Amino acid sequence: MKDDIERVLVTEKEIAKAVEKLGAQISEDYKDKNLLLVSVLKGSVVFMADLMRAITIRCKIDFMSVSSYGAGVNTSGAVKIIKDLDIPLEDYDILIVEDILDSGITLSYIRELLSQRKPASIKIATLLDKPERRRVDIKADYSCFHIPDEFVVGYGLDYAEVYRNLPYIGVVKRELYEG
Ligand code: IMP
Ligand code: MG
Repeated sequence: MKDDIERVLVTEKEIAKAVEKLGAQISEDYKDKNLLLVSVLKGSVVFMADLMRAITIRCKIDFMSVSSYGAGVNTSGAVKIIKDLDIPLEDYDILIVEDILDSGITLSYIRELLSQRKPASIKIATLLDKPERRRVDIKADYSCFHIPDEFVVGYGLDYAEVYRNLPYIGVVKRELYEG
């Protein structure tokens, strides 16, 4: 698997440091609130697992799953709910936990959908942000790393469902997805 990676973009150490810092920031910002972390499957599971343990205040977690990409590297623009949340959102301060903010289509759809359920507040935390790729007007309230316009894998992110278990963020060799 490691042979498929051209180079490491964010190391394990850099990720751990950033997640620790973000957890502390969220713990401070939400200390008087009713925090519900909403993880968007599957890409954010690794980030979620680390981030929730870096948060020191009481909180709850839930998961939802949407699909926007199929197996390729470019967004289709269509977002479909595969698995919805289990609990009603009234009175919760929602923090959506995402792996990457790319075109923004997925997150703006999710944010709009969850807003309609009248939570106390709703914000976005993303591990990675590719601002150059944005196609809709959306910003993350918290983001760990801005990265260039390159397709990345690892730490939860996949290419065709593979590489999610790499402990760092890397760039896949081009020949693997350009045939
Ligand atoms: P958006 O709707 O274009 O912002 O796409 C968000 C989703 O696309 C993410 O949750 C990822 O699953 C996927 N995605 C976008 N860029 C990458 C990437 O570089 N590597 C892996 N998945 C990506
Ligand atoms: Mg994803």
